[in-house]
Amino acid sequence: IEARLGSGPLTGRHVLVTSGPTHEPIDPVRYIANRSSGAQGAAIASAARAAGARVSFVTGPATVPPPTGVDVIRVETAAEMLRAVEAALPADAAVFAAAVADWHVEGAGDTKMKKRPGEVPQIRLAENPDILRRIAGLDAGRPPLVVGFAAETENVEENAAAKRLRKGCDWILANDVSADTGIMGGSENAVTLIAQDGVERWPRAGKDAVARRLVDRIAAHLATTA
Ligand code: CTP
Ligand code: CA
Repeated sequence: IEARLGSGPLTGRHVLVTSGPTHEPIDPVRYIANRSSGAQGAAIASAARAAGARVSFVTGPATVPPPTGVDVIRVETAAEMLRAVEAALPADAAVFAAAVADWHVEGAGDTKMKKRPGEVPQIRLAENPDILRRIAGLDAGRPPLVVGFAAETENVEENAAAKRLRKGCDWILANDVSADTGIMGGSENAVTLIAQDGVERWPRAGKDAVARRLVDRIAAHLATTA
């Protein structure tokens, strides 16, 4: 196995990546979802693996297939994703690329909602756990490097910087997911890396190139912290 993993700047490291959307059931046949393809998360997992890391890839129902050579843990809902992430720890670095649904449907049952003439069902939403915030806030077992994404449609850098502080993560990759950027579901990404000590605006590039750049940064960071 070690030989097939090869060696690279992340050899001997364990990297956790979350990816894809989550699906939150309304009833057994319907769900709430979002437009995440899982492409950026898959690219990050693939790049980390290529750099020699052992990779735990916790993915919601993405449209893009998972990369080979990583441990794939498939989940459906945000609650399942949190449990899978906790079970995959400890990790040297954790990258939260999933587009986790912010809410689930309260009291979603296991019988199909039936249509009744003149009646419209009312759906009540309840908050999902914030996985990134939970993991970034761990006292024991917090990954030494926790990286989040901030999908924004306005005031991108400002909102992302505030989000980094709110979540307690080390780095946040801000991206503009406004419909006219074509990033959500597209093959390119334009991100700004926001860390405690500064801001780096990366040029728009393929999601694979963005992933390699992030993995290089992670490897360099882990190398300085032993
Ligand atoms: N995230 C998470 N669990 C959630 C929601 C978000 O782990 N329940 C993670 C995402 O994977 C991402 C980061 O938190 O790395 C930011 O997600 P985002 O949706 O941009 O932030 P929110 O705090 O949910 O705020 P909002 O959607 O209102 O912008
Ligand atoms: Ca959100």
